[in-house]
Amino acid sequence: MHLLHDRRGTPAGELGPAELVELLRFPVPPSHAWLRTNFVSTVDGSITGADGSSGSISPDSDAHHFALHRALCDAVVVAAGTARAEGYRAVDLADWQRDVRAREGLAPFPTLVVVSASADLDPQIATPATGEGGPVVVATTTTAPPGRLDALRDAGVEVLQRGTDSVDLAAVLDDLAGRGLPRLLCEGGPGLHRELLALGLVDEVLLTLAPTVVAGPGPRTTRGDGLPDPLALSLAYVLRGEDDAVFTSYRTLPEKPVGRLE
Ligand SMILES: NC(=O)c1ccc[n+]([C@@H]2O[C@H](COP(=O)([O-])OP(=O)(O)OC[C@H]3O[C@@H](n4cnc5c(N)ncnc54)[C@H](OP(=O)(O)O)[C@@H]3O)[C@@H](O)[C@H]2O)c1
Repeated sequence: MHLLHDRRGTPAGELGPAELVELLRFPVPPSHAWLRTNFVSTVDGSITGADGSSGSISPDSDAHHFALHRALCDAVVVAAGTARAEGYRAVDLADWQRDVRAREGLAPFPTLVVVSASADLDPQIATPATGEGGPVVVATTTTAPPGRLDALRDAGVEVLQRGTDSVDLAAVLDDLAGRGLPRLLCEGGPGLHRELLALGLVDEVLLTLAPTVVAGPGPRTTRGDGLPDPLALSLAYVLRGEDDAVFTSYRTLPEKPVGRLE
């Protein structure tokens, strides 16, 4: 990865593995959640390819970038639509990701938190696709169908009921931070992203630009009503992959004061 810009003044140039971790590490204020959202988009603004998945537009260099962000978070937060479309399961990790977590003092695996009003999720989400994986929490409502919740619990999923018609997202983030999971990586999708932004719950927006154009009716990183006012962002850093993918990080304004966890 080549650093093009870091607002902290790090000189531009090639970054080694330790420098990349230093750049991507979560800045966590004590006792608060830090929510980072992560999307990949084509240059013409689509977050999916013709097959409706993000995998078909993700540049090769994004595989490592995506995996490193997973290695550095306490929990991966994802909306049910994306979990269903992309076949999400409990998060498993490669050895190098586990090594990063051990060095950073993080739990062996991040928790997967799926946000769903319907709780219409395959209970196999509780188990990783291969090997070992982290815990799975379904954040849902008090009106979700009990039969679906029982099936998820039987499979080993923790069910967190916050809100009646839709999930109270602020309460879920507080709950996660309160149980020692403040570093939150939201991997979408667009419906959840818009809600989190509208509620002022996002601290950092990561956008990877894939060097490709797909046209077609593909979705954007947000879906739903326009925000009453445009949300201002501040550019934190820009990286370039060897395949010309561009990785950006923006902070939402006003920025939360940051420190390090003890
Ligand atoms: N390129 C990328 O980086 C990227 C990243 C993520 C997703 N995607 C793409 O985005 C598409 C999926 O998007 P989507 O339109 O389905 O949107 P989505 O935001 O992934 O999912 C929407 C669903 O999430 C649940 N949800 C969201 N907020 C909720 C709340 N406050 N309370 C309760 N439930 C809530 C609901 O699930 P229930 O219906 O279960 O109630 C809702 O129907 C896929 O094609 C995926 O590939 C691309």
